[in-house]
Amino acid sequence: MKALMWQGVNELSVGEVPDPTMRNEQDAIIRVRKTVTCGSDLHLLGGYIPFMERGDVLGHEFLGEVVEVGPQVRKHKVGDRVVVCSFVSCGRCWYCQRQQYSLCDNGNTNPAITENVWGFAPGGCYGYSHALGGFAGSHAEYIRVPYADQGAFTVPDGVSDERALFASDAAPTGWMGADLGGVKAGDVVAVWGAGGVGQMAARAAVLLGAERVIIIDRFANRLQMAEKYLGVETLNYQTQDVGGELLERSGGRGPDVCIEAVGMESHSTGPQYLYDQVKQQLRLESDRPIAARQAIYHCRKGGSVFLLGVYANLVDKFPLGAVMNKGLTLRGAQQHGHRYIPMLLERMARGELVTEHLATHTMPLDEAPQGYNMFKNKLDGCVRAVFEPAR
Ligand SMILES: NC(=O)c1ccc[n+]([C@@H]2O[C@H](COP(=O)([O-])OP(=O)(O)OC[C@H]3O[C@@H](n4cnc5c(N)ncnc54)[C@H](O)[C@@H]3O)[C@@H](O)[C@H]2O)c1
Ligand SMILES: [Zn+2]
Ligand SMILES: [Zn+2]
Repeated sequence: MKALMWQGVNELSVGEVPDPTMRNEQDAIIRVRKTVTCGSDLHLLGGYIPFMERGDVLGHEFLGEVVEVGPQVRKHKVGDRVVVCSFVSCGRCWYCQRQQYSLCDNGNTNPAITENVWGFAPGGCYGYSHALGGFAGSHAEYIRVPYADQGAFTVPDGVSDERALFASDAAPTGWMGADLGGVKAGDVVAVWGAGGVGQMAARAAVLLGAERVIIIDRFANRLQMAEKYLGVETLNYQTQDVGGELLERSGGRGPDVCIEAVGMESHSTGPQYLYDQVKQQLRLESDRPIAARQAIYHCRKGGSVFLLGVYANLVDKFPLGAVMNKGLTLRGAQQHGHRYIPMLLERMARGELVTEHLATHTMPLDEAPQGYNMFKNKLDGCVRAVFEPAR
């Protein structure tokens, strides 16, 4: 079958790989109808998560049609239209029982790497390097889905492929940030990053009753999108004073909840950008935590900061003093999507959650390397590139 492969840092190719086969009684094979890029893929493409091997198939967000099910699969049958959570979890272990699905003890079949780096291994993720299980990714004609009853969700008839696709990752990730970040009715919420994840976090905050939601980025097209489709306020950090504006818009206190949806390749206009770039390139720190630092500084005393952006390992100049002295709650997680996807699909069916505007560029899988180039370099207003392997 055809697939998009990682060939080295910033090097991709489309070529033939073996078809997936059933390995387990709980597996399903899905014919991929749509699969989409994510900011997380950029960290792999750029070599910031150094556990990819030449020829690995990329992609973890997808929707498709079930073409084969194992004898233990109860919820799905051949022909079902399903969206699949980007994280692999078993649904039965200690963590899954507590709905902390991305921490699943059985989802990552290759736990040694992350045990060495972080102490314990999180669950697995499709197409997300050998550190997260070495699963073949979804930028392909077919994909094997382990624990299919747990990871695949039937899409309600009234929800289009374009909309449901984002229930795989961006929508549940954003929802988790607002939910576990503790957004309550009446809160002021600031979201750093107006990519797919930040936009979904901002929308979740609105739906959870926040009084004001402010999304921060430098790309005008992304900010306009947020105003138009999410009903939130915006801040352009290149032309506006983020700290001053956030104070002004929160009655002088600072936002109650700050959600960081930028991650380890964050950007800034100040001198710290150069500082972090140099240290990252020299491998003196692995991640550039610029937006995380800002979220911590600008959060009100006693507020909550949630890190949705992906971080790999070590950061520098981290304001731990502000976390401690301001009494902040600091959390982060890979998405526990299984906990939210059914509810999000219902909201999509009711029209409360629209996502299809994120799919700015749709193309056949053959054009995926060009799609990644547009997405990475934010060319032509690209917010997400969607690939259709069957086209
Ligand atoms: N926790 C999870 O489970 C999970 C799931 C999906 C993605 N992610 C992570 O979320 C992050 C965002 O993903 P995405 O797909 O939206 O990425 P994206 O690249 O489309 O968007 C990131 C946005 O952040 C903006 N940005 C950069 N520096 C900034 C700063 N200092 N302040 C404000 N905005 C800034 C960029 O301009 C860009 O618009 C990535 O790190 C990704 O790996 C995490
Ligand atoms: Zn993703
Ligand atoms: Zn589990």
